[in-house]
Amino acid sequence: MTMPTNDAAADSRGMLLDGKALAGRLEAGLAAEVETFADLCQRRPRLVVVLVGDVAASASYVKSKQAAAARVGIDSELIRVDESVQTAELVDLIRRIAAEEHGAADGILVQLPLPSHVDERAVLDAVPPDRDVDGFHPENAGLLSQGRPRFVPCTAAGVQRLLIDAGIPTAGKHAVIVGRSDIVGKPLSLLLAGRGTGGDATVTLAHSRTADLARVTRSADILVAAVGQPGLITAEMVKPGAAVVDVGINRITDPGTGKGRLVGDVDFEAVRPVAGWISPVPGGVGPLTVAMLLANTLWAAEIRLGHRRGT
Ligand code: GUN
Repeated sequence: MTMPTNDAAADSRGMLLDGKALAGRLEAGLAAEVETFADLCQRRPRLVVVLVGDVAASASYVKSKQAAAARVGIDSELIRVDESVQTAELVDLIRRIAAEEHGAADGILVQLPLPSHVDERAVLDAVPPDRDVDGFHPENAGLLSQGRPRFVPCTAAGVQRLLIDAGIPTAGKHAVIVGRSDIVGKPLSLLLAGRGTGGDATVTLAHSRTADLARVTRSADILVAAVGQPGLITAEMVKPGAAVVDVGINRITDPGTGKGRLVGDVDFEAVRPVAGWISPVPGGVGPLTVAMLLANTLWAAEIRLGHRRGT
């Protein structure tokens, strides 16, 4: 990112981490790479998305993933499955997708959360690791933990990208991540603590049992909120000048208008005057999650091409 252009200097508000703009630039680069792939292979990278049940938020995330795929020239297919599906049936479906009964799938994504009666782990483990564009398979999690990442979970990768692009230093800085999920908190802790650009930070992974959370967050140069709790991070919890990245996406009813709207985990209006940088919701991390998914899908297709060449 070129330095964010806003009025930060004039009124000392934190600079906006504009994920939407960065995602747009990343998409433009990906679209060109996808064209090269398509010319070379006479086919497009292809993503298969499995969506279970009728959760409106999940359907809306999947819609934006497919729309973004279309924008960069990646083919996608949505397979909808009834809420009542059993674990074994879902595992079998993923095996059939992997066996190409639905055509070649470079990337396979199972939208989470799954209904509570489904064994999520068993389903995610069934996705072949070389098509696991979400980076949720234990093989990909293990590679990341060993500092040789292949597919990195998209939101974690997006947060690191946002920091790098804004020129926010991470080396030697204290990064506090609130939330220890397998999807965001854990992989992000490994990325920020890893060696190299966007890494070399000292990382604290805070969670619901952390004692005196405010004391911990106040010591953060980089504070990432990834819990799913509106208003969790207040101004008093933020060190002046810190970079605050908000991963939360929560739908609330606005008391003023009575209408639904999206908010993050950070009290944006209160925290912005304290922070050095802050990501908005929507328009912060969300678009980058999608851009990272597209990058992973193209990469998965290229890996498969490499396999074909090698055999
Ligand atoms: N649900 C919320 N975030 C994600 C994600 O990154 N991938 C998938 N598959 N499901 C999600």
